[in-house]
Amino acid sequence: MPSQSNILFALGIIATGSRVAAGPCDIYAAGGTACVAAHSTTRALYSAYTGPLYQLTRKSDNTKKDVKPLAAGGVANATIQDDFCKSTTCLITTIYDQSSKGNHLTQAPAGGAAKGPEAGGYDSAAPATGAPVTLDGVKAYGVFIAPKSGYRNNNAKGIAVKDGPEGMYAVLDGTHYNGACCFDYGNAETNSQDTGNGHMEAIYFGSCSFWGSGAGKGPWIMADLENGLFSGVNTKQNTGNPTISSRFLTTIVKGKPNVWAIRGGNAASGTLSTFYDGKRPNANGYNPMSKEGAIILGIGGDNSNGAQGTFYEGVMTSGYPSDDTENKVQADIVAAKYATTKLSTIALTVGSSISLQDTTDALSKRYISSAGSTVKVQAVSSSSNTSLQQEASWIVRTGLGHGDCFSFESKSERGSYIRHYNFELQVQPNDGSKQFAEDATFCTEAGLNGQGTSIRSWNYPDRYLRHYNNTTYAASNGGYMHFDDAAMFNNEVSWEISAALA
Ligand SMILES: *[C@@H]1O[C@H](CO)[C@@H](O)[C@H](O)[C@H]1NC(C)=O
Ligand SMILES: *[C@@H]1O[C@H](CO)[C@@H](O)[C@H](O)[C@H]1NC(C)=O
Ligand SMILES: *[C@@H]1O[C@H](CO)[C@@H](O)[C@H](O)[C@H]1NC(C)=O
Ligand SMILES: *[C@@H]1O[C@H](CO)[C@@H](O)[C@H](O)[C@H]1NC(C)=O
Repeated sequence: MPSQSNILFALGIIATGSRVAAGPCDIYAAGGTACVAAHSTTRALYSAYTGPLYQLTRKSDNTKKDVKPLAAGGVANATIQDDFCKSTTCLITTIYDQSSKGNHLTQAPAGGAAKGPEAGGYDSAAPATGAPVTLDGVKAYGVFIAPKSGYRNNNAKGIAVKDGPEGMYAVLDGTHYNGACCFDYGNAETNSQDTGNGHMEAIYFGSCSFWGSGAGKGPWIMADLENGLFSGVNTKQNTGNPTISSRFLTTIVKGKPNVWAIRGGNAASGTLSTFYDGKRPNANGYNPMSKEGAIILGIGGDNSNGAQGTFYEGVMTSGYPSDDTENKVQADIVAAKYATTKLSTIALTVGSSISLQDTTDALSKRYISSAGSTVKVQAVSSSSNTSLQQEASWIVRTGLGHGDCFSFESKSERGSYIRHYNFELQVQPNDGSKQFAEDATFCTEAGLNGQGTSIRSWNYPDRYLRHYNNTTYAASNGGYMHFDDAAMFNNEVSWEISAALA
């Protein structure tokens, strides 16, 4: 029904200027390929949707709260989250399905490839504040997926099975990825096991080149079809599929009998490109497909959970959407006006030297200090010797892994930085790797106990720089490591920052 969708589309653009009247799922429905799953923590994906977008779980008391749009079809009401999670931490424990199918996403259970670290082997849920953005100037939060985090629905209704046609898109952060398996969104096995080639059809985003790849070093948009990440008809490489890393990235995979496609583009401006459109890959088991109809986010079909990425919105459809329908969805995404907002809310002066004092016991004057390659809190004062004062002094650097955040270079071991390793803090020389840079990057916010500053890990945003038993950790509030102890959490993650002792 192209004429109907054209009318809807035109109405949308003309009617409201900055906000289109038709949401992505209205556009898909007009194209004859209705959404059977619609997930977003940032906005309603139907013009009439007023229901919940996501559920928060607050770590201070384990109570839950739903975040709804500001208006029908509108942006999430981030004030609900900011009020509910004030002076504590929150997780995104459910991402609601806005379609009528009830295909909500919750923490993924253990699978054939990996268990998650949470009780019962579940993967972790995303911290609620890891991916702040604005949509047309209005604040909202995306889903920041660290390694060992992920969501799933193994009892989804209405998703394509066997060789049935389907489409899907997801809006992601093109700068948040890694080379591990597998940051996916889409169709997967219903039992969390690898049940064979062709049992999945999901968007993959990242730089994993173990199976297939596109041009350059990645990251790429590929399709996870199980036992392979595919960029085209060849199992190994499609040089027509470019490295792509727009900050806001529209990613598309769709499939029908012996045809599939990969498309993508900048979600903040412009149009989609088609990176592959043709036959199923040259390998056994992918034609016909054996799709099973579960839904995954942030993991592989067998719960391979080493990957990272950020998800803002995405849908799955019944039927194979036309390029024209997807082009209109892209125009709607661009009109939503995704933009960045700062990750650190307490400013630190890059190049300045600071000391960070414990706020639990001001009298003992304990500061974050290097002790060999470990990081302790130690009593230091102006009468301490110079080497101890230097061990408690840090040079503020622009975050090695993200420019909105900071890295802390040791004053006593120049070229060495605070990084987390197995979530224990260490002082290590910068080895230049992406992993080191990300593990050494910390973002600031108001102190959780109402004093000073709290400093959270960029790549695990629910993990804060904490002292526990006079040792320091990247600790979460009531998490699965012994130093995640909820008692005293707010106090032990709050620091008074002053000019350096040395
Ligand atoms: C947004 O949430 C806040 C906090 O719950 C509430 O006071 C406000 O009325 C909500 N705004 C709208 C438009 O619903
Ligand atoms: C500095 O003081 C600390 C703590 O008293 C001590 O362990 C260390 O040996 C002293 N270092 C020097 C170089 O004097
Ligand atoms: C505290 O640190 C000491 C010394 O490093 C160690 O022996 C002890 O086991 C630690 N206690 C806890 C509860 O972690
Ligand atoms: C931590 O260090 C302080 C002195 O700086 C000391 O009084 C306290 O006993 C230490 N705590 C532990 C658990 O080792």
